Amino acid sequence: MIPLMKVALPEKDMLLSKLGDVFDSGILAEGDLVYEFEKKFQSLYDYNSCYAMSSGTACLHAALTASGVMSGDEVITTSMTAEPTNLSILYAGGVPIFADVDDAGNLAAESIKAKITPKTKAIVVVHYAGYPVNITSIRKVADDYGLKLIEDCAHALGAKWDGKPVGSYGEYSIFSFQAIKHMTTIDGGILVVNTNENSSEYFKKFRWFGMLKGADRTTNNIESIGYKYNMTNVSAAIGLLQLDNIENRIAKHVENADIINSTFNNSELIRKVEFDSRSEPSYWLYSIRAKNAQEVIERLQRNGFQASKLHRPNHLHKIFKSSQVSLPRLDCFYQELVHIPCGWWMSSEDVERMIEVLNYG
Ligand SMILES: Cc1ncc(COP(=O)(O)O)c(C=O)c1O
Repeated sequence: MIPLMKVALPEKDMLLSKLGDVFDSGILAEGDLVYEFEKKFQSLYDYNSCYAMSSGTACLHAALTASGVMSGDEVITTSMTAEPTNLSILYAGGVPIFADVDDAGNLAAESIKAKITPKTKAIVVVHYAGYPVNITSIRKVADDYGLKLIEDCAHALGAKWDGKPVGSYGEYSIFSFQAIKHMTTIDGGILVVNTNENSSEYFKKFRWFGMLKGADRTTNNIESIGYKYNMTNVSAAIGLLQLDNIENRIAKHVENADIINSTFNNSELIRKVEFDSRSEPSYWLYSIRAKNAQEVIERLQRNGFQASKLHRPNHLHKIFKSSQVSLPRLDCFYQELVHIPCGWWMSSEDVERMIEVLNYG
């Protein structure tokens, strides 16, 4: 069975040798490798400043807190995502307000605008499955209403909007390096900061109990709450190796997706997700819409390809009950949604065979 997602690790000898060096050093938790990883990631994508943490979820919590989200503040967000996007709003004390989506399953600017109230503090967008949201129109809404914009780029490493990497447009952006993403550090995440509203010290303290690493613990004075969110040197060592090859790996996702884009024919029953010409997805997954999604999932599985809807729209969870609203476009998108594989583990022949299954059953 060709899986929908697959763990990607550096070549084994290189990985074990690098990890051996870390274990020999005796410095396993946050240390110089973490800072080297942050710098390498930052310069690869030309971001302003970056803070590595233990997970993408930790980075979301940091982004929301840095945006000033506090108890009772409203955060406009999407339900079409993995749950951590919205659970982290609860961590910060905020109230998720779900807006509706466009044809690619991403938040639509006009729906966001309709949800703004005096209590709105921030907007969280998700570049779902690696397809960038229309960030130009959403950035404009945020600016017009004085709201912070947070990009959840957990699925979209390497994707671009209007020639610039996703993660460059929000005040804060996050990436996840959890096991099945484009790139893994086993678990981990990075926060991209594109504003000077909070100092570097603020984020360093946020990720480590409210204290600065290296400062004398006997005289350190915690002034605001911090968390145990630091990345470890072990994860950073893996991340440093991953960054050497990440562009090639993402290019393979894009190459496979381009085969689907150019050879798969839309029909009455199955069609590709449409996206803007400014969008350059990095295709963590390839998304299609099918009139009978379950039949397509089962047909692909019978032919050796794993396919799935993957997530449950978050507003259906009991914990988000008080945020429940009518989302007619999301309902329609979700009913038709099927994610199919297109990652580095597929050869062009695999992709062509999958398209045959889709085109001819
Ligand atoms: C869209 C989205 N946001 C945030 C996260 C959280 O990332 P992590 O698992 O690294 O905490 C994930 C991954 O699980 C995700 O898919």
